[in-house]
Amino acid sequence: MRGLEGRVAFVTGAGHGIGEACARRLAAEGAMVALTDIDTAAVDSVASELPEAAAYHCDTTDSASVTATVASTVERFGRLDIVVNAAGHNLGGTADAEPTEEQWLRQYDFTFVGAVRCVEAALPHLRASPGGAVVLIGSISGLAALGTEPYGAAKAGLVNLARNLAAKHGPSGVRFNVVAPGTIATRAFATKPEALDELKAIYPLGRVGQPADVAAAVAFLASDEASWITGVTLPVEGGLLTGPGHLIG
Ligand SMILES: NC(=O)c1ccc[n+]([C@@H]2O[C@H](COP(=O)([O-])OP(=O)(O)OC[C@H]3O[C@@H](n4cnc5c(N)ncnc54)[C@H](O)[C@@H]3O)[C@@H](O)[C@H]2O)c1
Repeated sequence: MRGLEGRVAFVTGAGHGIGEACARRLAAEGAMVALTDIDTAAVDSVASELPEAAAYHCDTTDSASVTATVASTVERFGRLDIVVNAAGHNLGGTADAEPTEEQWLRQYDFTFVGAVRCVEAALPHLRASPGGAVVLIGSISGLAALGTEPYGAAKAGLVNLARNLAAKHGPSGVRFNVVAPGTIATRAFATKPEALDELKAIYPLGRVGQPADVAAAVAFLASDEASWITGVTLPVEGGLLTGPGHLIG
């Protein structure tokens, strides 16, 4: 459980849900963690419970904010080894409505370019690390037709981004992977727990996921245990992508 001793991790969207779980899990593995989010109170609170952690306001839609926060992290901890990009959510629209151009651009900027901003700011430091690793949080929505097009397409872009960056920066020793979660019980479902109950049925493993399920996969891909794994997308989705076999019986 201490496979990340001495490593420094930068986690976006660390105030809630999956990002928070990743920050907690990386800390449990021995990493020093920079918890970053636009919800400063939330990251302050989570960081106060971790042994070696710092909380920062960081907006992944703002390059200057990302660059400054990466710099503060390196100033504070002296290095940067791991980036986990968890900030994000579906900015809206419904599957049967035509997205507007504005919706396409906003979702792409938030989900896709947001990840690019983090990678670009962190890369010089990751290259200097003995185990530089980036884990992007994608979604099963990026792997199948499961909802709104802008969100799914932007998440799909992360799959190819990780492949390209893995090829480009492999010789520098930096690895890039994606974790693609299925339905995870986070605050998006807080007001509609019945939706989670209904969704259980579509998962062969009979339950929706918890943030810790995703964090476990992230911790593995960020660690030296995964030192020969790069450019892949790991679905963490209770078997959903196997298809409807369990429903057919
Ligand atoms: N919950 C799910 O079912 C699910 C499934 C697949 C993928 N995901 C993905 O997992 C990631 C985390 O989702 P979650 O369900 O934990 O959501 P969440 O709302 O619980 O947490 C997201 C965090 O991102 C922060 N955030 C929002 N905008 C930001 C910005 N511009 N800059 C920095 N931080 C920002 C929020 O303040 C929040 O703390 C997202 O990328 C989401 O698309 C979630």
